[in-house]
Amino acid sequence: MYKKICSKYEPTKDNLIHILHEIQDTHPQHYISDEAVEEVSKYLNLPTNHIYGVLTFYSMYSTTPRGKNIIRLCESPPCYIKGSENILRKLKVLLGVETGETSKDGLFTLELSACLGVCGNAPVMMINEDVYGDLTEEKVEEIIEKYRRAQ
Ligand code: FES
Repeated sequence: MYKKICSKYEPTKDNLIHILHEIQDTHPQHYISDEAVEEVSKYLNLPTNHIYGVLTFYSMYSTTPRGKNIIRLCESPPCYIKGSENILRKLKVLLGVETGETSKDGLFTLELSACLGVCGNAPVMMINEDVYGDLTEEKVEEIIEKYRRAQ
């Protein structure tokens, strides 16, 4: 699987980020495994240390398995002022996790994010590629329920 992804790109160092992105996006657990790093290292002829350096530098990458749905709650000031703390507390209770953790059923990983670019609708969160704004605790409960039903 990793070889196939690598082969879509020219084997140049400039493509490292693109390859890592695709590997993470297409993995059902949204992460980059040691095996994937080995494969990319061989393909681009880069030391694995260099790749791990990139993975730790960018917070969007994960080297541990994550849930099927990645929740990113905005923690920047405009969302904070509009109550993102309450939304975070609610999400933790609903999912039974702390920030950075994955729910026991493997459905959700809860993460924090910087501004998601839709401050007019604060507080805001993203689940995978979908944006949810003007959040209230009730709305969050409905959204999580919708995802649970969809599984
Ligand atoms: S500050 Fe939260 S979306 Fe911009």
